[in-house]
Amino acid sequence: MPLKLSCVASELHAVAADLLAVGVHEDTRIDRSPLAGIDKALHGALARLVAREEFKGKKDQTLALDTLGQLPAQRVLLIGLGKRDAASPADLRVVAARAARDANGAKARAIAIALPHAPDADAARAVGEGVVLGSYRFTRYLTGDRKPKASLDKVSLITPSGTRVAPALKKSLELGAAVGECACIARDLINEPPNELYPARLAEAAQTMARQRHLLCKVMDRKALEKAGFKLLLAVGQGSAHEPRLVHLTYKPAKSSKKRLVVVGKGLTFDSGGLCIKPAPGMGEMKSDMSGAANVVAFMAAVALLKPEIEVHGIIASAENMPDGNAYRPGDVFGSLDGKTVEIVNTDAEGRLVLADALAYARKLEPTALICNATLTGACVVALGQRCSGYYATTDALGEQLGQAAKAAGEQFWRMPLLEDMKDQLKSDIADLKHTGDRWGGSITAALFLREFVGNAPFIHCDIAGPALADKPYGFYTKGGTGHGVLTFLQFLARM
Ligand code: BES
Ligand code: MN
Ligand code: ZN
Repeated sequence: MPLKLSCVASELHAVAADLLAVGVHEDTRIDRSPLAGIDKALHGALARLVAREEFKGKKDQTLALDTLGQLPAQRVLLIGLGKRDAASPADLRVVAARAARDANGAKARAIAIALPHAPDADAARAVGEGVVLGSYRFTRYLTGDRKPKASLDKVSLITPSGTRVAPALKKSLELGAAVGECACIARDLINEPPNELYPARLAEAAQTMARQRHLLCKVMDRKALEKAGFKLLLAVGQGSAHEPRLVHLTYKPAKSSKKRLVVVGKGLTFDSGGLCIKPAPGMGEMKSDMSGAANVVAFMAAVALLKPEIEVHGIIASAENMPDGNAYRPGDVFGSLDGKTVEIVNTDAEGRLVLADALAYARKLEPTALICNATLTGACVVALGQRCSGYYATTDALGEQLGQAAKAAGEQFWRMPLLEDMKDQLKSDIADLKHTGDRWGGSITAALFLREFVGNAPFIHCDIAGPALADKPYGFYTKGGTGHGVLTFLQFLARM
């Protein structure tokens, strides 16, 4: 059911809701803030609680209280915003997400969100995004008592009382929620179990989304891939009963545009490692090895909604990496769509192989910018941790653009170097390239390998292996698939 969204000009103590969430800056004095009315209605109990709990409004600090019938709002949640006077849209997105997550926990259906400053269009959009992202739950496989009993269905953004609410503000709030819903498409796909979501199903999901949102969608099955020469994608998929797919989604603006963004995603619906099989602990997490592809579906859904004046393409290379009598082996040599030959070293380094063919295909579209996103290496997680993606850019201008986009999106991305002298590690005695180097700097050699297949296209590669999945909720992410990257790529597009 879609959320009912509204913007309401009101005093906080007059707001009726199951939950009233209030963003609070550090060192806010309750008696001189919009919370004064609430404190008064509670006979000073709010100020006393704030003092006793040492709630300072520091970033991420929260304080919840039940109003026990003393106010039209049943529960009040203060959410710290940290120091600055004006919180960025990225901060507000997190406040809204926190409020929505708390609402889920408290079984609240109607929430109201108040910010320390009168919200503008950007703030309203961020709140819309945050509410949807924060309240997300994956409930498809829950039955009986495990099914959530209440869910959020009404959200009001509170604006200063006595002021007129511009109709455009509600539009921004709604747009934000719609963008949030798009990002959640990625989460749904990532959270699907791998017996249900194999390459053909992932392609169907992309097709369904495209049909609903009037995008073009081309799907190549095994036969079509053989005919076209996607040799590396086929090699990775040949050990699985589920055949690989390539998906190509296209958005064309009403007025034809010279600028063209192409986003590519790794779509391993399950990565067992193949013959170089992974250890059992944590192998189940490798259902999320299609997060890059899921992000592409989500991103394209949002593109269809936002209708930018730029041509946008989304490409997914999907396969399942399994050990089997027909599986590819270390020592094998394959050609590729690009023409280069590749010697296989480790069948667990399958992502870069499927991406090599997808990138060779993508580059023929002559992109202004070509962005790849993939859960590519454990090495990147070792380097940057589980909450930050590494990215590589072939020019500093692109590197700067992605960095700014990530900042605006509130997603952590850190630029990594394409170290030229490490290219030697990819030399093979019998083929044009080996696909892995030695142990050290594994994320870098993976990026260098991918770069071999993009020609002169301006190229960014994002290694999202860490943040694609969250082991607990944080920021605007929920536990499980996060869709980390979708908002960043949307910001990148907006900046194009
Ligand atoms: N899908 C994995 C990378 C990964 C690891 C993603 C942890 C998310 C969390 C990838 O296909 C892989 O197995 N990479 C190998 C490469 C190695 C064999 C060169 C790795 O990182 O160990
Ligand atoms: Mn692997
Ligand atoms: Zn993988």
